[in-house]
Amino acid sequence: MKSLLCVFLLVLVLVEGCWKQEREALIALSWVNIGTDCCEWVGIECNTTTGRVTKIKLQSYNTGSLNYSDFAIFKDLTTLDLSGSGISNCTRTDQGLNNLEVLDLGFNLFYNAISILSCLDGLSSLKSLSLADTSVMVSFHDFQTVLETIPSKLLHLEVLDISYNNLSNEILPSLRGFKSLKELHLSVIGLDSDLHIQGKSML
Ligand SMILES: *[C@@H]1O[C@H](CO)[C@@H](O)[C@H](O)[C@H]1NC(C)=O
Ligand SMILES: *[C@@H]1O[C@H](CO)[C@@H](O)[C@H](O)[C@H]1NC(C)=O
Ligand SMILES: *[C@@H]1O[C@H](CO)[C@@H](O)[C@H](O)[C@H]1NC(C)=O
Ligand SMILES: *[C@@H]1O[C@H](CO)[C@@H](O)[C@H](O)[C@H]1NC(C)=O
Repeated sequence: MKSLLCVFLLVLVLVEGCWKQEREALIALSWVNIGTDCCEWVGIECNTTTGRVTKIKLQSYNTGSLNYSDFAIFKDLTTLDLSGSGISNCTRTDQGLNNLEVLDLGFNLFYNAISILSCLDGLSSLKSLSLADTSVMVSFHDFQTVLETIPSKLLHLEVLDISYNNLSNEILPSLRGFKSLKELHLSVIGLDSDLHIQGKSML
């Protein structure tokens, strides 16, 4: 009888598939609620052992000011894809997102250095950051400021993507502070063709 109850409870957990609080938080982030298992929803990935959400690709295109506190409930979140979400700046009121390793901020509506940097506070575990196509409304000087400030905020950054920004060779000295970087993505950013990248010595 006891084992039957166990089997019943196990089936119940598997049918639910994803954590109730996480499902509700996703619905609050305006996910269309189709089915109880939020691990199956568009843009969501979960850890198959814990059933907790590990990856979110935001499905909004006009977010404006992003509130990181909305993501604090996702304790196992390691990847947050906020690309193309109409984000102009970020706020936060808590310490969540401690496990975040990959953040994509590409193709958003940032307007100066502070607006970009506001989205990089309190992400001490971050290893990979995309700022691809974020400079349309950001001045060259502000983009320099961003690149010069990131190393002091993200101490473990290994991958940086600044592709599809309108920059020039003059941006290169701003990359000197990146000590832990292993990969730098620079495609189509207006560097002169005579640029010589010599592995680590460039940084
Ligand atoms: C899933 O979570 C378990 C327990 O926290 C962890 O040991 C495991 O590495 C995770 N799996 C993946 C693929 O991240
Ligand atoms: C953040 O962006 C919103 C528009 O999306 C704007 O109303 C707000 O003033 C901005 N906040 C800061 C601190 O610049
Ligand atoms: C962000 O979300 C938290 C938690 O939901 C809330 O307390 C806080 O007021 C929000 N901040 C802004 C600026 O909306
Ligand atoms: C790129 O930047 C240069 C110099 O800042 C500017 O003259 C040019 O118009 C920009 N190009 C685009 C496509 O924004």
